[in-house]
Amino acid sequence: MSEDVDALRARHLAELAAAQTLEAVEAVRVAALGRAGTVTALLRALGRMPAGERLAAAPRVQALREELSAAIEARRRTLAAEALALRLEAERMDMSLPVPPEPQGSIHPISRVMDELAEIFADLGFAVAEGPEIEDDWHNFTALNIPPEHPARAMHDTFYLAGDPPGRVLRTHTSPVQIRTMTGGRPPIRIIAPGRVYRSDSDATHTPMFHQVEGLVIDRDTHMGHLKWTLETFVKAFFGVDDVVLRLRPSFFPFTEPSVEVDVGCSWEGGRLQVGGAASWLEILGAGMVHPRVLANCGLDPAEWQGFAFGCGIDRLAMLKYGMTDLRAFFDADLRWLRHHGFRALDVPTLSGGMAP
Ligand code: PHE
Repeated sequence: MSEDVDALRARHLAELAAAQTLEAVEAVRVAALGRAGTVTALLRALGRMPAGERLAAAPRVQALREELSAAIEARRRTLAAEALALRLEAERMDMSLPVPPEPQGSIHPISRVMDELAEIFADLGFAVAEGPEIEDDWHNFTALNIPPEHPARAMHDTFYLAGDPPGRVLRTHTSPVQIRTMTGGRPPIRIIAPGRVYRSDSDATHTPMFHQVEGLVIDRDTHMGHLKWTLETFVKAFFGVDDVVLRLRPSFFPFTEPSVEVDVGCSWEGGRLQVGGAASWLEILGAGMVHPRVLANCGLDPAEWQGFAFGCGIDRLAMLKYGMTDLRAFFDADLRWLRHHGFRALDVPTLSGGMAP
């Protein structure tokens, strides 16, 4: 009996060590501890022994059973852990985003300014609206209280499109987005609409395509004070200057009444243009209270709704902020200029990060 115990221990432990799968471990368990197993047979044999012999043999057989159970369980755990490790290794995923050490290309100053505008006005509760660059006569002129015979049409040096449908133009300003917004939804309205506009004009300060941002606020009692505060808040955030003075001069636009042109106080110290103070003035935008006839053209009751609109040259803002002197450079696509004046693609403007260069 004692030889049997030692031989069985050695055999089953060797089998266990050789077992490479959970199934193989289970086969060892069945062979040793199963109903017809070797150890089970030894335990049964104990019952048939004379009492003296049984007393001597029983502890050794019991110990063998416990030792083998523990060894089987340990081998099972080891194999399960190995299988899990293999599976984790096989299913491993690289979640990191590769960032090229030298980002290719750069963000154009105009795009950068548009991103800054969206960021600043989003903080004031404005959504970004859009409209088509090919507009119809009604949205670009008539609905904005510029009837066909109106002299303001000539002021805009409009590009007219041939073909069907007739009366299509390249939009001469972003103001048609006012119309699309008011006819497309109900007040209260708070939007900005940055985008390209076109006029037949070209010199150092005019290009046939340029950029504007339109602003529109419509509510029950919005007034000129809100307009002035909004513009001041915008200019302060955009130029990163607290001491900003705005000057509102009476002006005329067919679609606003009253209308103003807005100058920003600045200085030219040492030949460098600086925003702030009131030593000198620079015109940056046109604005006013939306004309009652424009509201009516969009199906809004002017007795119920009122608000302000403004239109601002984005290229002009960019020149002022980044100290550029010739507007045409914006559109030359000169790689050296872009490398110098462009912005890193990963530097997204945020209010918390600061807008100033
Ligand atoms: N659309 C006008 C322009 O292009 C600017 C403007 C917009 C003025 C909104 C008043 C209100 O000159």
